[in-house]
Amino acid sequence: MTAALEAKNVCKTYVVNKRQNNVLRNVSFDVEDGELVAVMGPSGSGKTTLLYAVSGMDEVTSGSVGFYGQELTQVRAKEMATLRLDSMGFIFQQMYMLKNLTIADNILLPAFQSKKNRGTAKRREKSAYAHELMYRMGIAELARNDITEVSGGQLQRACICRSLINDPQMVFADEPTGSLNKQASNEVMDQIVTLNRAGTTVMLVTHDIRVAAKCDRVLYLIDGSINGDLALGKHEGDHTLKDRERRLNNWLLDKGW
Ligand SMILES: Nc1ncnc2c1ncn2[C@@H]1O[C@H](COP(=O)(O)OP(=O)(O)OP(=O)(O)O)[C@@H](O)[C@H]1O
Ligand SMILES: [Mg+2]
Repeated sequence: MTAALEAKNVCKTYVVNKRQNNVLRNVSFDVEDGELVAVMGPSGSGKTTLLYAVSGMDEVTSGSVGFYGQELTQVRAKEMATLRLDSMGFIFQQMYMLKNLTIADNILLPAFQSKKNRGTAKRREKSAYAHELMYRMGIAELARNDITEVSGGQLQRACICRSLINDPQMVFADEPTGSLNKQASNEVMDQIVTLNRAGTTVMLVTHDIRVAAKCDRVLYLIDGSINGDLALGKHEGDHTLKDRERRLNNWLLDKGW
């Protein structure tokens, strides 16, 4: 198996008002190519910080992060930006879509930012791909809407389309269903499972047992350290979902969740 991600002894320390906050403490884990991994843990345990650290969005204080064999801590800022744009996808709630662009144009933005897509032919190809993605996510009819003219679930599906526009090897998602009701959350998670089954490696942070139960593996973070690693195996269909949820719930209760 190829490792998509190899984090070794990752530490992240923030200094605020001369006070050190060791948010990540020697975090080590692997994500295999094609895996769908969830990170859970109490609020403030460092989940978002971990996602930023292993996706090269933020520098680590010490430790190493391999991304498909490439050591991210050695990559210079400019190359890192290219690597992120071309090989990674992000579904982060804080990364708002631009208000003055339509849904389709927001989805296309990372494509047009990538040097790989210079020229009219490439741009046309990407436009068609954006529409195909929107169709797949069930938001094709919203292409020309402003981002204020869609629901939270639809906007989140647009974020997934945007994260996929450059065919990333791996997608990082921070609470992708966080602001959604149960039905919209199910739909968005099912889309994430579908994109994973099509070959994209996914690492997501969630507080939702129903979301994590559809993942292959769950890492539990507490006080900046990995405190558990539960292998659930591939989610094969809704008939086993209740069992997976029960298993995960018991495991989490054991952890004091
Ligand atoms: N940019 C920053 N500068 C200083 N401290 C930060 C920064 N970002 C996060 N922290 C601190 O790091 C710790 C972990 O924050 P983080 O956002 O990673 O937690 P989390 O597990 O994602 O929590 P939540 O579930 O609430 O989203 C917190 O104590 C937070 O205050
Ligand atoms: Mg967070």
